[in-house]
Amino acid sequence: MAGPDPDAPGPLIGRGRAADVYDVGGGRVLRRYRTDQPCEFEFAVMRALRAAGYPVPEVFEVSGPDLVMERLEGRTMLDVLGSAPWRAGSLARQLADLHVRLGEVRVERGRSWPRRFAGADEPLCVAHLDLHPDNVMVTDAGPVVFDWSNATLAPAGTDVAMTWVLMSTSEVDVPRWIRPVAGFVRARFLAEFLAAAGGLPDRALVHRIVEHRLTDPNVLPAEATRLRELSARMAANGPIGADSSG
Ligand SMILES: Nc1ncnc2c1ncn2[C@@H]1O[C@H](COP(=O)(O)OP(=O)(O)O)[C@@H](O)[C@H]1O
Ligand SMILES: [Mg+2]
Repeated sequence: MAGPDPDAPGPLIGRGRAADVYDVGGGRVLRRYRTDQPCEFEFAVMRALRAAGYPVPEVFEVSGPDLVMERLEGRTMLDVLGSAPWRAGSLARQLADLHVRLGEVRVERGRSWPRRFAGADEPLCVAHLDLHPDNVMVTDAGPVVFDWSNATLAPAGTDVAMTWVLMSTSEVDVPRWIRPVAGFVRARFLAEFLAAAGGLPDRALVHRIVEHRLTDPNVLPAEATRLRELSARMAANGPIGADSSG
């Protein structure tokens, strides 16, 4: 295994599909995209949400693909779920609450906001588009949402539908022997999440989200297969259920 990178801005403390996160000291982290994706919009969104009282990390500086923000102390909700699966119900309700609260945030709708999934006259809400347990830190002060790179304005319920699609079709990195248990926990989590979030939004929106997800270059081949199956079931007006994770 390779040793620590001597040019890194600090110890690597997190790594997602798109970014590396380094501890830069003083209670701050630097999140660096592995591509040239700029973060200025993400920075502005996080500022606006924090000002509106929504739980996001405080942001300090931005420069191209680098964003300096408050270091969150805790574990991701996915980690907590993996080590304490009996907490699935209460964690799912916490996640649903974060969705509901985000739907209630009113922000300045300047022209700079992208409007994914927007129809002609739909009421638009702030959507995170990746609001699943691996982007929530469970801290002593409550759950905090990070990874706002896809934030947009979208019809109410978009995030609920997106989270359901993501969690029903995504690969979770667990050993093979644990998969049946993990599948059971995920199904319980999703059922509780949907119940607390007010149910799955209309099928047309879910279908648009499945199609959008298929354009994401970070989607793994096995996930793309599941998404295509879900898309075909939806196109044929077949049942999608509250758990099609299989
Ligand atoms: N503000 C933060 N404080 C502490 N850890 C963080 C913070 N932001 C991200 N992380 C860690 O880094 C990981 C990857 O960050 P994330 O923003 O989700 O990147 P990606 O877009 O690649 O998924 C997270 O799972 C988390 O463990
Ligand atoms: Mg992430």
